[in-house]
Amino acid sequence: MRKIKVGMLGIGNIGKGTYRTLEMGRKKIEDTTGLSIEIVKILNRHPDRDRGIDIPREKYVTDAYDIINDPDIDIMIELIGGIEPATTYMADALRAGKHVVTANKAAVAANGRMLQQLAQENQVLLRFEASVGGGIPILNAITTALVSNEFTEVLGILNGTTNYILTQMAENGASYEDVLKEAQRMGFAEADPTADVEGLDAANKLSILISLLFGVGVSPEEIPTKGITTVDKVDIEFAKEFGYKVKLLASAKNVNGHVTCNVEPSLVSQEHPLASVNNEFNAVYVTGSAVDSLMFYGKGAGPLPTGSAVMGDVISIARKIEKGGAYDLQPHLRYDAGAVFDGE
Ligand code: HSE
Repeated sequence: MRKIKVGMLGIGNIGKGTYRTLEMGRKKIEDTTGLSIEIVKILNRHPDRDRGIDIPREKYVTDAYDIINDPDIDIMIELIGGIEPATTYMADALRAGKHVVTANKAAVAANGRMLQQLAQENQVLLRFEASVGGGIPILNAITTALVSNEFTEVLGILNGTTNYILTQMAENGASYEDVLKEAQRMGFAEADPTADVEGLDAANKLSILISLLFGVGVSPEEIPTKGITTVDKVDIEFAKEFGYKVKLLASAKNVNGHVTCNVEPSLVSQEHPLASVNNEFNAVYVTGSAVDSLMFYGKGAGPLPTGSAVMGDVISIARKIEKGGAYDLQPHLRYDAGAVFDGE
């Protein structure tokens, strides 16, 4: 059986979720693809720390370049998060002829154009399904099954931590601080949860969606963004009385080539399908010229759902390595398809 060797940067919540997803799915993957996927090296800067997972210690390396420069490794998974040094590691891996899979929305939103260009130049693949919507295969759907549509609108609940906080405040009257701690414990929140609660994580994800859906480059900094830190229990109760839920919505519209967008706490009518999206679940509600409206729903955060998306990308690349042929399976980020960004 052909062995595909993978190096993984990071063994935090998502790294462990990815490792577990591979172990859980090993037999199914081998039966359906005829490939054996092996995570052979893992960047772990603290190899003595108990990670609560049974991984042979000899897999651990403390220098990312032990993976990037290893000629036997076919695919590098980047799960350290943050823009740097993650972007540099991914760029160097692509230059070294490795395929790259990442869950890193901040790095893809900031540097996707450059990384994609490097992937093309080096005839390798860059995939980032896990960067938006956790376990929901939304990027795959909009760039493959739905590719013939001109998209006009996207409404997303794209951050599991804030949706968990808003749900628990609404349903259990829980306090903001307590629920945030619980979200951190469950592995939804970012290392610095400011990115979640201030809406920056959702803005990163919206920036990626806008590029894939509308073909225009809008950086996260350009997206008018408000988080949930000013949402009070009273606001939630008041909304409920009038038949609404408060959700952190990431929205973008393309009207005749003019793109507007924002991220902000919004009132969602209890009749709208997005109102039923609770806790760490995410949803992406897209409208396309042929298909009309579709809603994609699922766990948008957490180790195993995100690990599932990472492994999906790894396996699709592994199949491509096995079959050979042109490396044309990227979800193409587009920045100059003709639409213009008009702000909020
Ligand atoms: N912190 C993110 C969230 C993780 O809560 O949605 C998934 O991207």
